[in-house]
This record gives sequence, C-alpha cells and structure tokens, in this order.
Amino acid sequence: MKHIYKKLDKILEEFRKINQTNKFFPNKYDMDYTLSEEMLSQLMINGDLAKANSIDHNDNRIILNNSIFYQIKLKEILGEETGIKRKYSGFFWYPPDAFCGWHTNNNCEGERIYFAWAAEDKKSFFRYRDPETGEIITDWDKKGWQHRKFVVSKNKPFWHCVGSKTNRISIGLNVDKS
Ligand SMILES: [Fe+2]
Repeated sequence: MKHIYKKLDKILEEFRKINQTNKFFPNKYDMDYTLSEEMLSQLMINGDLAKANSIDHNDNRIILNNSIFYQIKLKEILGEETGIKRKYSGFFWYPPDAFCGWHTNNNCEGERIYFAWAAEDKKSFFRYRDPETGEIITDWDKKGWQHRKFVVSKNKPFWHCVGSKTNRISIGLNVDKS
C-alpha cells in the first residue's frame, strides 16, 4: 500500500485548494455520547441505520470535492490490483471534534476500503461492533496514512463510527456494481 499512500500525499499538498461543501460546527453536538455503546444500543433497537447523516446530530464531517481523484486515479489502481471494480463512497475532512456517528452502510453491500490520514498519533479512531461477538472495538489511527477494510452485509450488520480530536482525512471506496 506504500505506493498508494504516496499518491494520496497529493491530497495533503493540495488540501487548501480542495473545495468544501458544508460548514463545520464543532460544539453543536456531543461526540462522546454520540459514539458511545449506549447510543449504539438505542439505534439497534430501532433497526438499521445505513447512513449516519440520515438522523440529526449524528454527523458533522466536512464533505470534500473529490475531483482530485481524477489525478490520483485511486479507484483505477485499486481496481487493477485487487480485481474488484470500485467507486468512491465518500471524501471527508474531520477537523478536531468532528465525528461520524454509528451506521451500517447497508445501502451498499460488499467490501469497503477506507483510507485515513491523521495529523497526530492516537487522536482519532475508527470504532466498530464485531458482528460475530458483539464486542465494541476502538481502533486508533496512527499519524499519517492507513487503511481499513470491512464487509457490509445486511445479514451481519457492521456497525461503525469515527471520531477525531485532530485533523483527519478519509476516503471511502465501495464495490461498483454497475
Ligand atoms: Fe461508513
């Protein structure tokens, strides 16, 4: 993945030029509670939540314009290397105190890849519920680039959320079924 991280560095170089489509409200929501196990239990009682932003106060990330990917060709490279046709599912900036609440992504089943860049070590995390054991796991980001893979399945919902106390960038890709 090192060669891919190198390509992704272009995003960091050009970050100031990348358009943002929404504003950030850092103090509007309670991140700790929103990303808690208690909140997840409540959401699970109601059934599924495919997208975090379909309920209020559950997502305050900044959506970035993804035209830079025409230069980087991330999905093309990944498609060639893994043999799976992919499309971009999201390109986000998490400033300090930004988060994305619990959700499943069940609107698009199959493998997901998330690339994340963090400005600092262990100040941001990907949290998920192990669909087999029900255990809640907080996977802290390290400084710099990393990636994670998981499988979205309605039979075994993969509940997950993200929180950040630093600057964090994430790029998601799902399977292109077209
Ligand atoms: Fe997600």
